[in-house]
Amino acid sequence: FMVTLQSRSLRVYAYALEYLDQTRLPQAEEWVRCDSPEAWQHAVKHLAIRGAPLIGLSAAFVLAQYAARHPEPEWQAVSDRLRATRPTAVNLMYCLDAMEACFTQGADALAERAKALFEEDRALCQRMAERGADLLASGDRVLTHCNTGALATAGVGTAIGALAIAKQRGIDLHVYVDETRPLLQGGRLTAWEMADLGIPYQLITDSMAASLMAAGKVDKVMVGADRICANGDFANKVGTYMLAVAAHYHQVPFYVVAPYTTVDPACATGAAIPIEQRDGAEVRGAAGAFGEVVWAPSDAPVWNPAFDVTPASLVTAWVLDTGVFDSAAIARGEHLRGWR
Ligand code: MRU
Repeated sequence: FMVTLQSRSLRVYAYALEYLDQTRLPQAEEWVRCDSPEAWQHAVKHLAIRGAPLIGLSAAFVLAQYAARHPEPEWQAVSDRLRATRPTAVNLMYCLDAMEACFTQGADALAERAKALFEEDRALCQRMAERGADLLASGDRVLTHCNTGALATAGVGTAIGALAIAKQRGIDLHVYVDETRPLLQGGRLTAWEMADLGIPYQLITDSMAASLMAAGKVDKVMVGADRICANGDFANKVGTYMLAVAAHYHQVPFYVVAPYTTVDPACATGAAIPIEQRDGAEVRGAAGAFGEVVWAPSDAPVWNPAFDVTPASLVTAWVLDTGVFDSAAIARGEHLRGWR
């Protein structure tokens, strides 16, 4: 009953998913089968499947496929478990809310709903990326953080989507890629996507961004988001906040690019966003396709929040599929119009 769908990092079959294991990139392009809620939870906790939209969409398919094989009374408990896997990106809650609203209509309706969510995300990516590309001009040197590309969504991506559409339009960019400690989504994934897109880039460590701006080498900052509050505060990969502070100090425009499905009208301010805390081992060393290395004392105490909150006051504009909003528009709640 399920049409096969495919994106850069997801393949959907009738009774299983395959995902491109993002912990193995760029050293290996390995597709892994996922045919149970447990397998999905494992993949999401380890960031083999990651990025706000992709987490939500893959959860919808896993739930639909589970529903096709199990009786209705079990569905809610599975949805609850999927929902609790990662707390910060609200796209997971958006997708599971949409799926739960179909529970009374049966398993086929769930499969159709998951497919519709996937196709919606592809369209949202295209729209926000076009709006983001409208803000870019040839010669721009753009700094980005984490990975917000095709790997993280069903379509062209969010912030990287804007860079990709600009490239398609013949706009010449130079991109600075923040390595993105501790899990290196920039160094591993964004660098790989830039090469794939044919966009010239340079990799920097996160701690180099401020002096790069001081040297006058950054024209714009573009990042994605995991949750945008009613007042415009937003959570994104840890390190985004210090970029926003540095950009504000150096008067570099700072844009956040996201779909409306990342907006959480129920979150009044950033203080209400749950921030995921992760294992200290991620900071004491690194593990990946290249093996494992530990440089800190093996018992070093660690603080490891996966996300931070950037206050609305540091944002130049919010680039959503629904429009480009400045601070005044956000204060009027225009980004919430028509939402839920
Ligand atoms: O922990 P991750 O890799 O899932 O974090 C991802 C980010 O912070 C992205 O910037 C965000 O999801 C927007 S990407 C489309």
